[in-house]
Amino acid sequence: MNEPVIDLRSDTVTRPCANMMQAMQDAEMGDDVYGEDPTVNRLQSKVARISGHEDALFFPSGTQSNLAALLTHCNRADEYIVAQTAHTYKYEGGGAAALGGIQPQPMERNPDGTLDPERIQKLIKEDDFHFARTRLVALENTTGDGMAVSASYCQEIRQLCDRNGLALHVDGARIFNAAIKLKVDVVELTRHFDSVSICLSKGLGAPVGSVLAGSHEFINNARRWRKVVGGGMRQAGIIAAAGIYALDHNVSRLSEDHANAEYLATKLSEFSDLSIEFGGARTNMVFFRLKNGNHDEFASYAESKGVLFTGRDPVRLVTHKDLDKSDIDLALERLGEYFA
Ligand SMILES: Cc1ncc(COP(=O)(O)O)c(C=O)c1O
Repeated sequence: MNEPVIDLRSDTVTRPCANMMQAMQDAEMGDDVYGEDPTVNRLQSKVARISGHEDALFFPSGTQSNLAALLTHCNRADEYIVAQTAHTYKYEGGGAAALGGIQPQPMERNPDGTLDPERIQKLIKEDDFHFARTRLVALENTTGDGMAVSASYCQEIRQLCDRNGLALHVDGARIFNAAIKLKVDVVELTRHFDSVSICLSKGLGAPVGSVLAGSHEFINNARRWRKVVGGGMRQAGIIAAAGIYALDHNVSRLSEDHANAEYLATKLSEFSDLSIEFGGARTNMVFFRLKNGNHDEFASYAESKGVLFTGRDPVRLVTHKDLDKSDIDLALERLGEYFA
């Protein structure tokens, strides 16, 4: 494999920078299960404030944070309405069903990343003992394919949930990418929800960790579920410090990832053997399809040249803080040799 390897598989592959490592080393710590880790408490207060919620809770992963949210909102034989392609439904091992007896009601997503409000309304089940009780709508922002969903849409779904007595959760693993893309304060994207899960270990570049925000009552209940699923951590300040560093230093720079993705999409579109999906980059993601259909051959070739990505048809490339424009140029040069 050629060096350096250009890893475009995900924004989860970033490594903590030296300053982040220093912040971790300097972190004050205590036992967080007793609520005594000052750094974790600081991170939680910070996320609560930034997201416009009363309280927040630190989790080891986004999957566990989403799971605790679903378990908190829904009882056994309740259901939640969710996109077919959403991470909470498709990529979290059916955790809500397995551990909470919660039935998903998946639905098709619109190309713009939204769930059609009229369709949601039709899927809400009547109060009838034959049916599961519809309790929750779960959105995603950005969506798995990098689409930023607008604040006005979030507000519309809030109103729909209020009319129907439903709770509203957002998997905001990349909500700061959405805020940067839409040029809004992140609170505009988080305040409409009863709960929001934010990942620190994606574009923000922390090694691990997610934070769930909501009301005091919601977070107290989520804390019980976090314990049940084994997410109560002890001297977690060492990783919370990385999260604080990420929020302080790595939010506005997400625009560089978006610019690199746009550059990558523009340059790739010059190769006639492929077609760029969605007409260009979406936040920090680029998708393309090969016209000749030799997806496996192309992926093996790219890997042998030290360019890593996921997906075959389409291919997915994700930009992040450990790749600058010169890395993108190098990836383009190596991929270009395949098309030459
Ligand atoms: C949209 C989305 N939500 C949630 C998660 C889960 O995060 P984690 O890998 O920390 O469990 C991911 C991970 O890639 C994701 O892309």
